[in-house]
Amino acid sequence: MEEHSTRNTAGAQDTAGTQETSGTQGTAGTQSTAGTQDTAGTQETSGTQGTASAQGTAGTQDTAGTQETSGTRGSLGRVVCILTGASRGFGYSLALELCSRVSPGSEILLVSRTEDAMRCLAEELGRKCPGVRALWQAADLGTQEGVAKVKEAAQELQGCHAAEKLIIVNNAGSLGDIRKSFVDFTDPEEVNKYFSFNVTSAMCLTASLLRAVPSRPGLQRAVVNVSSLAALKPQKSWTLYCSGKAARDMMFQVLATEEPDIRVLNYAPGPLDNEMQRQVRTETADPDIRRLFGEMKEKGQLVECGVSARKMIDLLVADSYQSGAHVDFFD
Ligand SMILES: NC(=O)c1ccc[n+]([C@@H]2O[C@H](COP(=O)([O-])OP(=O)(O)OC[C@H]3O[C@@H](n4cnc5c(N)ncnc54)[C@H](OP(=O)(O)O)[C@@H]3O)[C@@H](O)[C@H]2O)c1
Repeated sequence: MEEHSTRNTAGAQDTAGTQETSGTQGTAGTQSTAGTQDTAGTQETSGTQGTASAQGTAGTQDTAGTQETSGTRGSLGRVVCILTGASRGFGYSLALELCSRVSPGSEILLVSRTEDAMRCLAEELGRKCPGVRALWQAADLGTQEGVAKVKEAAQELQGCHAAEKLIIVNNAGSLGDIRKSFVDFTDPEEVNKYFSFNVTSAMCLTASLLRAVPSRPGLQRAVVNVSSLAALKPQKSWTLYCSGKAARDMMFQVLATEEPDIRVLNYAPGPLDNEMQRQVRTETADPDIRRLFGEMKEKGQLVECGVSARKMIDLLVADSYQSGAHVDFFD
């Protein structure tokens, strides 16, 4: 992934002169706080929120390592990461955790539809992990154009030649219309739209990125699929979600089988205390599921995104999982 067209920058960081500053996006203003991560409000649906072409970067690439790196928890080394679904929820927490555990010179490309949230996150990463260069790409992964934009943005990553790890995290996902039962899904367009985002984009983006960053000595390539218990266990009212998660698990198992040199992890993060869970509690057609997750929320049994994110990064650092395995937060 070599130099590409000009990109915009978010100006909250110190600039070591390596960032381009062209474009129409301008500099970012407000900085984010960690507390915004699970309350971004808008629920992801299969709609077309836009395919904004704006991209940006924050942070500097070669700053000496003042960031909180591995500490006692272990470091991933010098990483290039592409992370989808970074604007809120689990992805937001993952970005923070991952960037706190990489070496200076690492890079992360954040992807979602909501540019402002990613700009804020990139600024937060720049403050907390100044040796990490954070870029973002706003894209609707439910569209071919969105997938193409991310592939193009990935060409902006400059550290692939020196990285010890390429980590592709397929985290973006949606529940689909959980107010419906199986027999309500008579419209192929609705179903295709769901799978286009939740399955097709994960496959095509991952394949394209693996092609763009081929194997070389000293580079470990890892692919993470953020999965769910729903990939293994059918749940009433979650026809699209369960089948999409099962498809993703299987396709990444095939990848693990075909490519023994690529580390593949299907990670189920547990029932997270975030926006998607609110949707589960309020919209699931099946009353038993609504009640179950409502009670879990009331009893404080939902998992904090940051806690599960840490577990996932611990798994990547330890690197002892079987490639292609489905690993649950509670395992
Ligand atoms: N929440 C749970 O309890 C739970 C449990 C098991 C597994 N998971 C899985 O964890 C992953 C993260 O979910 P979450 O809980 O963090 O949910 P979330 O808060 O709803 O976040 C979903 C993320 O996906 C992005 N996204 C949605 N539609 C998109 C599109 N068309 N194109 C690009 N990005 C899109 C969203 O950003 P924008 O809206 O800005 O585009 C957001 O960043 C998902 O794969 C989910 O299935 C969640």
